[in-house]
Amino acid sequence: MFSIDHLDIPPLATAGGTVQLPGSKSISNRVLLLAALSVGHTDIVDLLDSDDTQVMLTALAQLGCQIEKRPDGVLRVEGLGGQLRVSEGQLFLGNAGTAMRPLTAALALLAARDGGCFELSGIARMHERPIGDLVDALRQLGCAVQCLGTEGYPPLRLGTGQPVPLSLGAPIRVRGDVSSQFLTALLLALPLVSEQQAITIDVVGELISRPYIEITLNLLERFGVRVQREGWQRFTIPAGSRYTSPGRIPVEGDASSASYFIALGAIAPPTPSLEGITIEGVGLASIQGDIRFVEAARLMGAEITGEANRLHIRRGAWPLKAIDLDCNHIPDAAMTLAVMALYADGTTTLRNIASWRVKETDRIQAMAAECRKFGATVEEGADFIRITPPTHWTTGSIHTYDDHRVAMCFSLAAFNAAGLPVRIEDPKCVGKTFPDYFETLFDVCRADPAHIPVICVDGPTASGKGTLSAEVANRLGYHLLDSGALYRLVGLAAGKAGLSTTLEDLQDPEQAQRLGDVAAGLQVRFTGSHILLEGVDVTDALRSEIAGMAASRVSAVPQVREALLGLQHSFRQLPGLVADGRDMGTVIFPDAPLKVFLTASARQRAERRYKQLISKGIAANIDNLLADLEMRDLRDSSRTHAPLKPAEDALQLDNSQLNVEQSMTQVLNWWQEKTVFSGS
Ligand code: DC
Repeated sequence: MFSIDHLDIPPLATAGGTVQLPGSKSISNRVLLLAALSVGHTDIVDLLDSDDTQVMLTALAQLGCQIEKRPDGVLRVEGLGGQLRVSEGQLFLGNAGTAMRPLTAALALLAARDGGCFELSGIARMHERPIGDLVDALRQLGCAVQCLGTEGYPPLRLGTGQPVPLSLGAPIRVRGDVSSQFLTALLLALPLVSEQQAITIDVVGELISRPYIEITLNLLERFGVRVQREGWQRFTIPAGSRYTSPGRIPVEGDASSASYFIALGAIAPPTPSLEGITIEGVGLASIQGDIRFVEAARLMGAEITGEANRLHIRRGAWPLKAIDLDCNHIPDAAMTLAVMALYADGTTTLRNIASWRVKETDRIQAMAAECRKFGATVEEGADFIRITPPTHWTTGSIHTYDDHRVAMCFSLAAFNAAGLPVRIEDPKCVGKTFPDYFETLFDVCRADPAHIPVICVDGPTASGKGTLSAEVANRLGYHLLDSGALYRLVGLAAGKAGLSTTLEDLQDPEQAQRLGDVAAGLQVRFTGSHILLEGVDVTDALRSEIAGMAASRVSAVPQVREALLGLQHSFRQLPGLVADGRDMGTVIFPDAPLKVFLTASARQRAERRYKQLISKGIAANIDNLLADLEMRDLRDSSRTHAPLKPAEDALQLDNSQLNVEQSMTQVLNWWQEKTVFSGS
């Protein structure tokens, strides 16, 4: 994931292909806790790897639980058998409600039963998210729970260090109309103290988000605890209940995360030759309530078919159909309906969503404010939101409130009829549940190549292009094309094929053609910061001075340049590209909206290269380096084909006196001026 403060998504044209979903957050964190409390070890398959599960894993490790990532990716949790190895600790739980609530219940009970004292805290927003109803329920049981800041909110201190008797005889009363996570927390924790007697929970008020309770009950059953329930009002944990590991448990794909790709299939014109969107990892047999988003999306016009563990989506009605829907059963996924509503044929009302106000942010307010940036008319109430689509789309910079779902939802606005890009602020907040969300989205979306921005950074050898380009790409979340590496690869591949690359030999047209063929058949793979040629890692070999000199010679061969055209163009992918080389702005991407030409004196560049080599422990001589540089500059700029020179519309940047950070800031400023968001 990139280190960026915003991501600009170009206007998107079509979508199609297969998406593999990450594991469900709700299931992952419940399974982790149950596995930790069980007798025996549990092998968890396809666990979600995200901020919220990291928080839970760290907390469990602090509590003495042994957790091991096995080579096959399976996570093995050694159960504590309902006994803690430590009796005190301070746990930081970020903004993970699915960790805070159940750990509060479990640790409050264990601290009371065995004598212990634990402090649970989170980020500032976590301290604004209510937990009073759960605290009240635990206090009824006799647990010592102290709110260390505001009463009814974390941070909390659980237990006093001394065991205290628990009163488990009378039904425990808990409110169900603020968050179903309070009931889930009690259901997950009470089997810790139900060996001797049955324990009953009575829900006060209308229970919201019931499907999440179903997940809890379902998982408890897999861990050996069968809860009896009377409607949605009374839940009884039978006497003698204790958690037993199921041995191995798979985690379904996240149904809430699926909603973005279901919506994508409903909104996007299909990519020709691809049969709409296929989602793997979650399907019609899902135990997650958000799978019922499928019904809501169908109401809006999506054509959806499915199997147990897979869904297929195609665009049906267009524009989408406006709906008026009670969304209490799909609180998280319903946010995605708000963005679908921007593409509907009338006004959509989403009702019974008061819980949105106490989530990662006040989601009703957030969705209203951000939908308005696109020109929609939005009305919001205590527990509803009403959205009328824009008559004329505008665009804006989407504030994401540290809420992963806001960020994911609004990426779908990039299909707007006005063909406008969408800016997502703080895009890495998707790490809470779906760290690779944008990569996954871009994998299945297509844009008109002309709409995919390219920043060209051309300049002579050792001008710092490579470092600057990599930094700029990283900051913008763009792909990177190091075109020099391609010429270096051709030099290397020629050597492997036994072809000479001396200047003399390259004069021979047949030899030049053979070299062109080598370039056309390059078997290269770019994996992160590594480059593989025919499966062999050549990253270091490519950077050598010898490889650079060979590249300089082979790059003067027109057949080679011709052969590499298609490969270079193929780097122009969503969401954008930074391309560095000699002819990026003049030949390869002449339509690029920003072209930078780096200049620095040959002596400056020789000194930089010298320092670079010395720092790597490679012996170097500055005068030789200078002579080499000058020779390469001369060859690169005097060759007939694609000589090194600034494009007419290039902006020149003399970085002789600038460090990388300063050069990057200059390029990013130029870039910001070119975007439609320059006023924001
Ligand atoms: O940027 P570099 O040093 O890795 O480039 C190696 C050689 O490749 C350089 O001497 C010139 C050539 N080159 C080119 O001709 N066109 C490009 N776009 C990039 C590099």
